[in-house]
Amino acid sequence: MKIALISGSHRPTGNSPRITRFIANQLEAKGHSTYVLDLSTQELPFWDEGLWGMEGLAAKWQTLWAPIQTELADADAFIIVSPEYHGMMPSKLANFFLLLGNGATVAHKPALAVTVSAGISGAYPVTELRAFTSKNNRMVYLPEHLIIRNAGEVFQPETKPEQAESNTYLTGRLEWLLGMLESYATAFQSIRASGYTTNSKYANGM
Ligand SMILES: Cc1cc2nc3c(=O)[nH]c(=O)nc-3n(C[C@H](O)[C@H](O)[C@H](O)COP(=O)(O)O)c2cc1C
Repeated sequence: MKIALISGSHRPTGNSPRITRFIANQLEAKGHSTYVLDLSTQELPFWDEGLWGMEGLAAKWQTLWAPIQTELADADAFIIVSPEYHGMMPSKLANFFLLLGNGATVAHKPALAVTVSAGISGAYPVTELRAFTSKNNRMVYLPEHLIIRNAGEVFQPETKPEQAESNTYLTGRLEWLLGMLESYATAFQSIRASGYTTNSKYANGM
């Protein structure tokens, strides 16, 4: 199974890219293949009408977006890792969802939301991801999610004694969620094959 992970942080040295790589390693140890899109290092312009084919704006997207889109289309499931920035998902991640548009790239495929806070936040981006990032692209979030608080202390090579209990809890919960994502991904293959998931008459979800 191929799982694509998107890290929404703007900071290459942030916790989200590190945690995304940690999760990718866990998946690879289970025999899955992974694709990691780190938005802190993968420069993507803001959405423009080139994605709708406008002359003069379209050509760059063939180089910048088409290879990413191919990787995402090839994936069976997704993990969206969002930091909390002032109670929101970061703008690079919001732009990523604009770039997805309403094509079939991620449609009717399961996604696990993972949110990352250096403090004790992390609930706002869960709400934002669930409410505002899948209407037209039709990605399907699992009913469970993972909020990583005190992120600087989590999934590190060395665990401080006072962080051991929470790290054990989060490691176990992540393990459970990755199993759940895999089982959803298997089941959703038959949902996509049912023929009920596309209807050009209702392309924009309303
Ligand atoms: C612009 C900005 C705003 C932030 N706002 C919040 C916030 O509202 N709540 C919070 O818990 N952490 C906030 N943080 C800290 C992040 O939670 C912290 O950096 C965490 O590690 C996730 O972001 P990262 O992946 O970029 O490191 C903010 C960080 C930045 C850079």
